[in-house]
Formats: sequence, structure tokens, C-alpha cells
Amino acid sequence: MKKLIIFNLLIIFLISATSCKKKEVKEPDRMDWWREARFGLFIHWGLYSIPAGEWKGRTDHAEWIRESAQIPLEQYDEFVSQFNPVNFNADEWVAMAKNAGMKYIVITSKHHDGFCLFDSKETDFDVMSTPFKRDILKELSDACAKQGITLCFYHSIMDWHHPDYLPRRNWETSRPAEGANMDSYVSHMKKQLKELLTNYGKIGVIWFDGEWEDTWTHDRGKDLYNYLRKLSPDLIINNRVDKGRSGMAGLTKDSTYFGDFGTPEQEIPLTGLPGVDWESCMTVNDHWGYNKNDQNWKSSEDLVHKLIDIASKGGNFLLNVGPTSEGVIPQASVDRLKDMGDWMKENGEAIYETQVSPFEKLDWGRCTQKEDGKNTVLYLHVFDWPNDGKLVIPGLQNKVVEAYALKDKSKAELDVEKTDDKTITVDVNNVDQSKYATVIVLEIKGKPVVKK
Ligand code: GLC
Repeated sequence: MKKLIIFNLLIIFLISATSCKKKEVKEPDRMDWWREARFGLFIHWGLYSIPAGEWKGRTDHAEWIRESAQIPLEQYDEFVSQFNPVNFNADEWVAMAKNAGMKYIVITSKHHDGFCLFDSKETDFDVMSTPFKRDILKELSDACAKQGITLCFYHSIMDWHHPDYLPRRNWETSRPAEGANMDSYVSHMKKQLKELLTNYGKIGVIWFDGEWEDTWTHDRGKDLYNYLRKLSPDLIINNRVDKGRSGMAGLTKDSTYFGDFGTPEQEIPLTGLPGVDWESCMTVNDHWGYNKNDQNWKSSEDLVHKLIDIASKGGNFLLNVGPTSEGVIPQASVDRLKDMGDWMKENGEAIYETQVSPFEKLDWGRCTQKEDGKNTVLYLHVFDWPNDGKLVIPGLQNKVVEAYALKDKSKAELDVEKTDDKTITVDVNNVDQSKYATVIVLEIKGKPVVKK
């Protein structure tokens, strides 16, 4: 009897010991690739690239032009026979994104105007009705598969073209709402989404938008989320599938709402948000869709700093381009992506797979970090170089194992000094500075402890 009890206890011990051990190993998560990627390309492209932002003398339109210029449906439909982007080259677009250091592409399968860039059996208002007659998403999906980039689709819930979508625009008096049925619209949208998840290889993210109108409800969001996850269990879906987005700040109000990540728009949260997945989407100039008059381009330095700022707060950066109706990405965007790529080639290690900064604020720049066994690697991104060549890291309590400049292949040791219990100083006098931001690597013992 005694033997049996001891034997049983041994078994229980072994089982619990192995299950405890199991817990230490991080379970793979369907969000992992996205969290590690940090940087993606947004593409807003459709019929609106033809008017290129200009209508009857006003020049500030873009992808909203049908609404902002109040263009009647029949007139907007005329763009279909004009859409012929003969210079479109999927391999070149994907290579451009890849060389910029981006890991995924989110393109508008359908924007608010309802026009589809893919061959949809559910509508004629698609690229197959244009003179171009080439399935743009198919070409991109092949190019992405070849080059190892994850393809994702932006799909607008709001639809100004489908007869069943409600509400109508209030200026649209010639399109009566009688007979329109929102439920039929939803089932049409589901069929299209099924096409998108079936015919274009593995899709990383469905990025919804236009969820704010009253006809879209929490129940519809929940149903759509579950429908898509059933079709594609690993799919990632943004929070605009439901009604929980808090305005342009973009984060989900509370956990009753569906969606895998928050979507700040044209802004970056003020601080890191540990445990919250989010992605800031932003334009390079002031419009999402192509606007030929908009030359207000952000500088490459600003964009690199934004990417670093976002990574230091644990988010992703989805940077937008708006191609022309000929299928050309504006040169100003191409140039900036090239600059960002040059920086990423030297410093990508300090962006990909990193975690939120342990510091509340660093006067000279930002920090990202990575676990390395029992140690932590801190990446110090220096925007403002110290005049005296002494980089001050305030409050760090850990023992420093080594310090070097990231781009220095020889990893020449930098002098580190602890001036008092609140300050570590790294001598960066001999460091060769990079354009935009220089990364200093500080390997420390244990998890970072920062004293205020
Ligand atoms: C806004 C706009 C839309 C754009 C989107 C990108 O919601 O309606 O045009 O696609 O932002 O986040």
C-alpha cells in the first residue's frame, strides 16, 4: 500500500513537473509573425486615382472623391472604362516594399467606392470590367509568395456602390433606398471575403474600415469576425471589424469588442501599451489615395523616427502609398522607402522582434529591447547626438555586459561608466554616426530595472 502511494505521488510529481516545464516554452501564437514584422506597406489604389484628387477646381480630394465631390454613381462608373494601369508591375511593388524592410503589404481589395481590384464573381464593378482586365491581387499574391512577403487586404464595410448597402449618402437623391437590404449586402460581402481568402494564397490580415455607420452593429462585427476565423483560423483581423474603436486614437475600448489589434490613424500613441497589439497607419504625404497636387511629403528622417518611435512603444507601422492610375508609385514615396530600407539594412535587428522600451522617456531618442537568454539586449536609438560624446542612460540599474555600435561589425567595446546609482554613461565619441538614427547596443544582465 505504502509503495503504491509513493508510486502515485511520484507519477503526480512527474506529471506536474513536465506540465510546469511546458509552460515555460512560449506557445506559438497566430499573431507572432505580425508582432515580429513591425513594418508594412499600405496601398490605397482604385478608380479614384484617375481624377487624382481634382474635381471641378477643388484639388484636395482623394479616395473619398465620390463623396467629397458628390459625384453621381453613373458618372463615377465612367472611370471603369478608363482604368488601365499599364505600368503596374507586381514584382516591382513587392520588391520595393521588401527593400524598404517591410514584411507585409495591405492593399485595398475594395475601398468605400465599392470598386474591387480583384476578379470577383460577386460583382461587375471590378478590375475585370476595365480595359486592364488583369486580376491585380492575383499578380500581387504571386509576387508576394515569390519574395516572402505576407499579403493582406483592406476591405471596406461601407460601400457607396452596392445597391443593398445602407445608408445612402444624404446628397444622393437619385438613388432611392427602397428595396435595399443590408442583410443581403452582408452576405454579398461575406462571399467576396471568401473569394479573397480562397483564391489568393495565404492571407495575413483582413483590415476592415468604414465600420462607423449605424447599419454596422456589434453583432454584425462579431458574426463577421467568427465567420472569417472559421474560414481561416490563423487570420488576423483589425478592430474595425467591430464597433469598439476609439476614434483616430484607434485602440479598442474594451474586451467585449472583436478585433485582434488597434488601429491608430495618422497618429502614434503617447506611450507604450504593454500587452496591447496595435498598428499606426500613416500617409507619406497628406492623402491615402493618389492626389497629384499633394507635395507635402514627410522627410525620410521623420519617417525613420516614426518607425523607431512606434517600435519602442510596441506597435507596428503601416506606411501608405497611393499609386497613379498608370500603376506608378509616386517617386517621392519610392525615394523615402529606399532611404528607410537603407537604414533598416543596417539597423533592422533593432526593430524586428523587439519589445516595448523599459524607459518612460529618453531625451536623445528611443529604446527597443530583446530578451537574450538571461540577459537583455537594449537598442538605444540616438536621434540627437550628445555634444560631449557621452550618452546618458538615466536610471538603469543592471550590470552592463557589453556596449557597441550596431553597425560596427567588429563590435568594438564602448566605455561604460556608472556615474551614480541612477546614471550609466556610454562613451560614443568614437562611434561612426548613421543617417537619421544611430543605434548603440547595450547588453545587460537580467531584465531591465529602471529607477526613477
Ligand atoms: C479612413 C478613411 C479611409 C482610409 C483609412 C485608412 O478611415 O476613410 O479613406 O482608407 O482611413 O486608415
